[in-house]
Amino acid sequence: MVAETTLTVDDLIAPLFVREGITEPAPILSLPGQSQQTVGSLVLEAKRLVSLGVPALVLFGVPADGAKDATGSGAWDRDGIVQKALSELKSALSDQIVLIADLCLDEYTDHGHCGILRPDGTVDNDATLELYQKVALAQSAAGADILAPSGMMDGQVGAIRAALDGAGREEVGILAYAAKYASALYGPFRHAVGVEITGGGDRRAYQQDPRNAREALAEVALDIAEGADMVMVKPALAYLDVIAQVASTIDVPLAAYHVSGEYSMVKAAAERGWIDGPAVALEHLTSIKRAGASAILTYFAAEVAETLHG
Ligand code: PBG
Repeated sequence: MVAETTLTVDDLIAPLFVREGITEPAPILSLPGQSQQTVGSLVLEAKRLVSLGVPALVLFGVPADGAKDATGSGAWDRDGIVQKALSELKSALSDQIVLIADLCLDEYTDHGHCGILRPDGTVDNDATLELYQKVALAQSAAGADILAPSGMMDGQVGAIRAALDGAGREEVGILAYAAKYASALYGPFRHAVGVEITGGGDRRAYQQDPRNAREALAEVALDIAEGADMVMVKPALAYLDVIAQVASTIDVPLAAYHVSGEYSMVKAAAERGWIDGPAVALEHLTSIKRAGASAILTYFAAEVAETLHG
């Protein structure tokens, strides 16, 4: 009666992985309970989410072995794995679930960075924007309802918005990974998508420094000015202060990403019997909502939806 915060199935967005060149779903060891899906098993998983009432999914692609290149061309190839998967999902499910496409190059580049590289090995921000525009056109043509640029290039939201509008796709929305930190919590995800940054590099040149909160507000303001329909803070639990600050300053919906490391830590401790996994999952997600997020991307989506229905 007096609870201030109620987590509901409507708050959840389920991340899913689709991999090219496999014939059976492949369990992801670093993310217990999650799998790389075939296009067929992905559609079944999406149907399960619909039956649980989960309103949206966000899709990540894993190209076939040996299919990566320097520019990440698989990301915008009309026959690329995410494009194939999006069109299958759209024809099987129509508008029963919102299709969000993660928009980045790192799964498709042989060097593992989110953008293309200059000869000296640094990321070329502005040249990358042109490739993001190609990805935006390919994903929206294939059936994505919302594009979620996650590469943290400056100007990415404006570039994608311009490409979509130029193609007459004004109705396609943008969920901006606006305040994305250079976090060690993405480790299990990189195993899941087979991304390794060459030379043991990192993303600190384009993702945010965990020591800074005000920078997040600046990033969010820029993305909204460039046309973001929703913004995101990522990761979630170590950044609840950032979520709360952003929530108090914006008028668009705020999402938070409970990332792979946050999920896998709960799973690993629960497997050892050290914590009550389902209870901790519910506590984590409820706290993210309490901090001010209105949508939560989480690998717990299906599991928590079942608990909430139970
Ligand atoms: C980049 C991307 C990453 C995640 C989502 N999009 C990895 C990264 O920035 O290195 C991480 C998600 C997670 O850890 O659950 N395409």
